[in-house]
Amino acid sequence: MSPKLVDRLTSERARQVGATLSLQTSIPTPGLITLSGGTPDFPTPPHIVEAGQRALADGHTTYTAWAGLPILREAIAEKLQRDNGITADPGREILVTAGSQAGLMSLILATFDPGDELIVPMPFYEEYARNLMLAGAKLVPVMTRMEDAFEVDPAAIEQAITPQTKGILLISPSNPTATVLGKQTLLRIAELATRHDLLVISDELYERFVYDDFQHHSIAALPGMWERTVVINGFSKCYSMTGWRVGYVAARREVIEAMIPITHGMTICAPSVSQWAALAAYTGPQDWFGDVLAEYDRRRQCWMTGLAAMGLGYGHPRGAYYITVDVRPTGLTARQFSALVREEAGVMIGGGGSDPHNEHFVRGSLTTSFDKLEEALARMGTVVERLRVEAGQ
Ligand SMILES: Cc1ncc(COP(=O)(O)O)c(C=O)c1O
Repeated sequence: MSPKLVDRLTSERARQVGATLSLQTSIPTPGLITLSGGTPDFPTPPHIVEAGQRALADGHTTYTAWAGLPILREAIAEKLQRDNGITADPGREILVTAGSQAGLMSLILATFDPGDELIVPMPFYEEYARNLMLAGAKLVPVMTRMEDAFEVDPAAIEQAITPQTKGILLISPSNPTATVLGKQTLLRIAELATRHDLLVISDELYERFVYDDFQHHSIAALPGMWERTVVINGFSKCYSMTGWRVGYVAARREVIEAMIPITHGMTICAPSVSQWAALAAYTGPQDWFGDVLAEYDRRRQCWMTGLAAMGLGYGHPRGAYYITVDVRPTGLTARQFSALVREEAGVMIGGGGSDPHNEHFVRGSLTTSFDKLEEALARMGTVVERLRVEAGQ
């Protein structure tokens, strides 16, 4: 390839998103304890693995219908009705995707034109920023407060609405803030979305991870909301199926229709074997999850105790499997704190990413085993204590 072609090779779009993610980012460093991973550490339950193996043995190795196996879409519709109070037509209102990630990329490309705005509570899952960037659309951040457990303030959302606003993003339970939006908040957001005629994107990937008395509610189930809500969900987190790559989008027919050619252009369909496994996930036993949740809750308590001992604040984690830690008392930015803890303590904890609004918070996660978590927190505590002594506090 000529140097001239190499020079012209990368598109402007790729250059923009390239600043936030690179090949290097995905390479794990051996010997470090990772305290911010997004992959559950429990295995895919055996009955789901067996369903995948059976699908392979039975020769389910071809493309499926573009929108996904009809039998899986039926099972998803039943689950949405049973667990979330949403009535979706499996024939026209559900699209199975290669992970919910492919669903959300396709959704943004299918519904956002350059200049359109999406209101996004901060801190947020950064993939939305990249997807909007690729579509030429604008992410409008709305601050939330750690002291309020990062609960979204509907009044702040309303203030952010402009004539270009197309929609509001809700991630609940949230990555990275671990907030779970209460019903009153959702009702107020539903009211203003209706009044301003906006789309709501509701990412519910972590719906089963809720602690204490918090409950997951889908905004799509509130009166009148199905017609303007797009539900993003999948199997990665609740069934520990991140590598199977299967998720789905549920929305009114016009949205699904618009997404089909884009999803087809990216993946044609979701992996066939994984769709059969996902079917087993939704139709098989669910009771095993109680033990997983209890263990994650134990780790959540461990985090909260550890951080309190270090004198670091955090947003009270209500759901998902994260905890958002305020590193301001150390006098460092999120990025500096991550680099220091990595170097001195051999612990990886989120670096505040490339998100310029998020320089105070690092994302911790409950996906590290209890023993390692205790050890990593102790090591992190030593670094924080040293900084405190040096600062004369
Ligand atoms: C909020 C949120 N949405 C979507 C995704 C994408 O997950 P997947 O493509 O594995 O379904 C993730 C992954 O971490 C996430 O945290």
